[in-house]
Amino acid sequence: MNMRDVISKKRYSQELTDEEIKFFIDGVVNGEIPDYQTSALLMAIVLNGMSDREMTTLTLEMANSGEINDLSFLGCKAIDKHSTGGVGDKCTPLLMPLVASFGINMVKLSGRGLGFTGGTVDKFESIEGFNCTIDAKDFKKHIESNGMLITGQTPNLAPADKILYALRDVTSTIDSIPLIASSIMSKKIASGAKAIVLDVTCGEGAFMKTPEAARELSKAMISIGKLAGLDVTCVITAMNQPLGKNIGNTLEMMEVFEVLSGNGAEDLVEVVTTLAAYMVKSSEAEESKLSVEEIKKICCERLKNGTALEYYNKLIIGQGGYVHSTGSPVYKDYPEQVLTLTAPCDGYVTAINAQMIGNASVELGAGRLVKTDELDFGAGISVHKKIGDKVSRGDTICVIYKGKMAEINEDRLEKAADLAYDAFEFSTEKPAHEQIIIDVCC
Ligand code: URA
Repeated sequence: MNMRDVISKKRYSQELTDEEIKFFIDGVVNGEIPDYQTSALLMAIVLNGMSDREMTTLTLEMANSGEINDLSFLGCKAIDKHSTGGVGDKCTPLLMPLVASFGINMVKLSGRGLGFTGGTVDKFESIEGFNCTIDAKDFKKHIESNGMLITGQTPNLAPADKILYALRDVTSTIDSIPLIASSIMSKKIASGAKAIVLDVTCGEGAFMKTPEAARELSKAMISIGKLAGLDVTCVITAMNQPLGKNIGNTLEMMEVFEVLSGNGAEDLVEVVTTLAAYMVKSSEAEESKLSVEEIKKICCERLKNGTALEYYNKLIIGQGGYVHSTGSPVYKDYPEQVLTLTAPCDGYVTAINAQMIGNASVELGAGRLVKTDELDFGAGISVHKKIGDKVSRGDTICVIYKGKMAEINEDRLEKAADLAYDAFEFSTEKPAHEQIIIDVCC
């Protein structure tokens, strides 16, 4: 077998055999296939697609390129959640305590942010003392005492995906349903999950720009799940504006605390309680027999009555984080307001480009342009007006923050302010209300 023939087959839209896909992934991981041949095959897949069988084989080979976590010590079915990426997406820190409150033990492997979307590990690390590097030998101890843990992904989790993703990033081959589906599902299979709820984001701030594309990606991941023996539920959510109101690490964790204190933004609470309800439905918890609406109602109550906050603080303290006597976490740095942007006219907000807001917060230091960038935990943006809100000229539409302890770079601040300002669109006509939950596929 040789790589040239494999590339040529895909170039002419022929199906690859399981052996050819295995040959490709083995060669990528052991360094025998040069980047130019890998990139050529990736581009042929982007252009000519893959069948369900090819996609499943690719996913399983990628998952098996490293260690597969054994989560049998959890004592319950291993449930996981994943988002295809968003701006202001602070669902995981809210979902973990909510789901744990149903007695569902959970190990969450999460990544750091790169590009315009944030990373959950960075958000947790904005809390003073919080340790997001838990050794696998200590998983059981954390589960026994807290019922949940969150840790950064181990280097040996689907290493084929790490290599392919880095190449896709620089060869314009990210945007492909078989490649996105296999990338996500290989990591989830390797994480040891037996059921997965996927938040498939859709809109300007997401990989999938339209509901049709989001449904197609969902269909692909469900089909891989079926063939790999995993329950997959895809919740398609709108990402046509940032989720909730804050973007930036400490700012987002402050918003998480507000939601857990019963004061969450409507869109964020709707997404979180819907995802939590489908996670409970896929579990073996007693409440899995209830309807999604009934579970959502319980989740809303637990956000209001302090139950979810109690579980959250257990997680924070259990992983070394500091918590004030008020119940709020202690952060490494706090946001300091540097600029207020105002509406240029009277009317309604009709769009807030989430990707531009995400890029603006990266300019401020809330995210990384390259892996080695240092974060400013306190930096970010708070969105004061959302789509459909009425504004008068001069009203605050968003506020820009830097960390109290951080230096501000004036050029980057100016760039961030321009991006954030240009992200907003206005009209004299009120836009039609759009649902945040677009569809659920399983
Ligand atoms: N998220 C992933 O993990 N992989 C992709 O290819 C896209 C989004």
